[in-house]
Amino acid sequence: MKNYLNISDLENLQVAVEEAVDLKKQPLAFQNLGKGKTICLLFFNNSLRTRLSTQKAAQNLGLNVVVMNFGSEGWQLEYEDGVVMNQDKSEHIKEAAKVIAQYCDIVAIRAFASLTDKVKDLSEIVLCSFKKYAGIPVVNMESAIGHPLQALADAITLEENKISHKPKVVLSWAPHPKALPHAVANSFVEMMQLQNAEFVITHPEGYELDTKITKSSTIEYNQEKAFKNADFIYVKNWSSFKNYGQVVKNDSDWMITGDKMKLTNNGKFMHCLPVRRNVVITDEVIDSENSLVIKQANNRTYAAQIVLKKILETNG
Ligand code: CP
Repeated sequence: MKNYLNISDLENLQVAVEEAVDLKKQPLAFQNLGKGKTICLLFFNNSLRTRLSTQKAAQNLGLNVVVMNFGSEGWQLEYEDGVVMNQDKSEHIKEAAKVIAQYCDIVAIRAFASLTDKVKDLSEIVLCSFKKYAGIPVVNMESAIGHPLQALADAITLEENKISHKPKVVLSWAPHPKALPHAVANSFVEMMQLQNAEFVITHPEGYELDTKITKSSTIEYNQEKAFKNADFIYVKNWSSFKNYGQVVKNDSDWMITGDKMKLTNNGKFMHCLPVRRNVVITDEVIDSENSLVIKQANNRTYAAQIVLKKILETNG
């Protein structure tokens, strides 16, 4: 695997999940693989889980890790060609990416959607520009439109907690006071489309995700109907895709409550975190035995580790 930009970069999701479950039993089994090599983690946005789990995963493989909060500490980058750079951008991506590539063997990048410029966000300009100019493997630590490390951790968590061969998995929108990106939901949908599962997406009208991603996935506008007999409820807020980046309505009725969870088949609750208690989900649900959120966060390490292992194995 040369890069990990999307869940589809994995040759076989199920095999990767099984390898990650094995790796979890012996996380230091490949600690010489990355010896003498360096990974740069570049953060254009905040992080807790991605930063720490990717760093731990890299260290488990023997990699040196350099972390930079690029958004607050780096020069503002210009991505367009032929621009007269007499405004606020100090450095062009062409130089920055090539310079960074001299200091490391893999570069991992977090750069969220702007939620103001749909065309630019959909073009994945930050991630794609690094891929184009750095010439070393690139890992997506959440980009404008995807969060494939989270989706792989979610697939591992589903595998470890499912009790039937074909579980019912529901992705539910939930309210949030701020406009949030689509990346986590998009990658979860793409991952679920590779699973043997009954998959349902539920959200209020106006919150349809990009149809290029949802394709023929089932959409149910009645949240309670969607929850019936579900084995897993995966909750996430996202802003409108059609009215790009807008909070078109913030219906508190869509919060995940204990009563709604009673409609499920003793369903497990999942969320990528961070989550706002008693806005997205009640304390009762997140503190319940059926909440998998801490296990999901733990699986972020093994998702990142299996991805970095495959990249190191491919790129020598
Ligand atoms: N789920 C996730 O990516 O968490 P962070 O934003 O804290 O990294």
